[in-house]
Amino acid sequence: MPRNQPQQRGVAYFAAFLDLLGKKVVVVGGGRVAWGKVRALLPCQPAPLVVVAPKATQAIRRAANDGQLNWLQREYAAGDLAGASLAFGASDDRDLNARVAADARALGIPVLAVDDVPNCDFIAPALVRRGDLTIAISTSGRSPAMARRAREHLERALPPFWGDLLDVAAAARERLGATRSVVEPDAWQTGLGEVEDLVRRGEVREATEVLARKLEHSLFEPEPVQASQSGLVSLVGAGPGDPDLLTLRAVERLRAADVVVHDRLVSERVLEYAAPDAERIDVGKQPGGGGSTQSEINALLVDLGRQGRRVVRLKGGDPFVFGRGGEEVLALSRAGIAFEVVPGVSSALAAPAAAGIPVTHRGLSASVTVVNGHDADQHDWDALARSAGTLVFLMAVERLEQIAARLLNSGRRSDEPAALIEWATTARQRIVLAPLGELVATARAEGVEPPAVLVVGPTAAFASELSNSERVRIAEVARA
Ligand SMILES: C[S@@+](CC[C@H](N)C(=O)[O-])C[C@H]1O[C@@H](n2cnc3c(N)ncnc32)[C@H](O)[C@@H]1O
Repeated sequence: MPRNQPQQRGVAYFAAFLDLLGKKVVVVGGGRVAWGKVRALLPCQPAPLVVVAPKATQAIRRAANDGQLNWLQREYAAGDLAGASLAFGASDDRDLNARVAADARALGIPVLAVDDVPNCDFIAPALVRRGDLTIAISTSGRSPAMARRAREHLERALPPFWGDLLDVAAAARERLGATRSVVEPDAWQTGLGEVEDLVRRGEVREATEVLARKLEHSLFEPEPVQASQSGLVSLVGAGPGDPDLLTLRAVERLRAADVVVHDRLVSERVLEYAAPDAERIDVGKQPGGGGSTQSEINALLVDLGRQGRRVVRLKGGDPFVFGRGGEEVLALSRAGIAFEVVPGVSSALAAPAAAGIPVTHRGLSASVTVVNGHDADQHDWDALARSAGTLVFLMAVERLEQIAARLLNSGRRSDEPAALIEWATTARQRIVLAPLGELVATARAEGVEPPAVLVVGPTAAFASELSNSERVRIAEVARA
């Protein structure tokens, strides 16, 4: 008898992992959906794994030929379920699936009828696997789309080497034998954190050795492996804005951080990768003053490092491209604090790319120069103007008049293509195109504001053709 969904009955699902080794499992159906179930079942080695269907996909037929399953090439009959531990109604016929569910329930066999929650005794979760580490995701049967979204999010967040890290933890646990129950839970966490880098580099055997030794040591002298003594400050590039452009290492460091010290431009969606209980410190400099000074930030990082915390100093783009990352690592290095730099995708390259502008292009531009638009007096403008390649200016919006005038005075042509890319890679991205001679008037008329990247050079004209942004404004003269 079909029943209501558990939520409608006001109860929750119980999450469990089943041991199916050597147990009979029956899948009714031979199409793509049935193959999805079979593929998930094969590593669990049920025996026999029976597929009942008059027709089957090539993958199912191949598995049958390889002896991995028993394909009954005919219509389903109630007797097929005899002795089964689990059953799936996975055909494209809803009525047939419901019949399988009714037959299974009559025999007391847990059953799943696809896409038919009232005819399910259990639901199959979306899975994220790293070796033997398995994360099961369920929306309580309410939204497969949301389950897939969560899975894709976790796939990105979970480092690929964590399967190996699990092997290392398991091997160290085995080596500790009877003493393992005495090891402090915190010592495990600190130890695993310390060998992570070794495992990432593929040095699994060495990592096992180091972890086991540390844990054995902690049994007698717990002090040396206390978390409070192993601080690390990671200078992490947050990329230009879109969280998908974070590096895997950036995500990993964020998830492990005790404290995140971030700039104003780092988006909330990027910060969400930090653990909910991680402390967040916004040191962002405000446009008209406010925020922390650079020396205050340096002192803060040194202080947090001394406290032995795992600190992520999160900076927009790449930490070493106009990000004052150099000053921060010098301060850390001089104070003897352990630090590392995690490079990020710089807006200097990401903004042109997101606008469809190749910064180099055979025959048009053989070099790219990244220029600080704020410090106009520091540059050799004749040299910049003479360079035949692409010029990329950061922090240029407030000095556009000066930049355009200096380039034109130094010999760049007024019909040279130029592009401003505002809020690149975010939902607010906008591209404004104009020839250099019209750039200032067009930008001011369009109300371009920071953050924006200015590109000057022949390839800037590609944006009108190659950008898939709908928000492209092109000055009249540029079209002529
Ligand atoms: C202080 S600099 C930091 C640059 C950063 N370290 C990087 O590598 O992208 C800030 C400037 O970067 C540029 N910028 C950063 N993010 C941007 C974005 N999403 N869109 C356009 N420009 C951006 C702007 O020119 C802004 O004024």
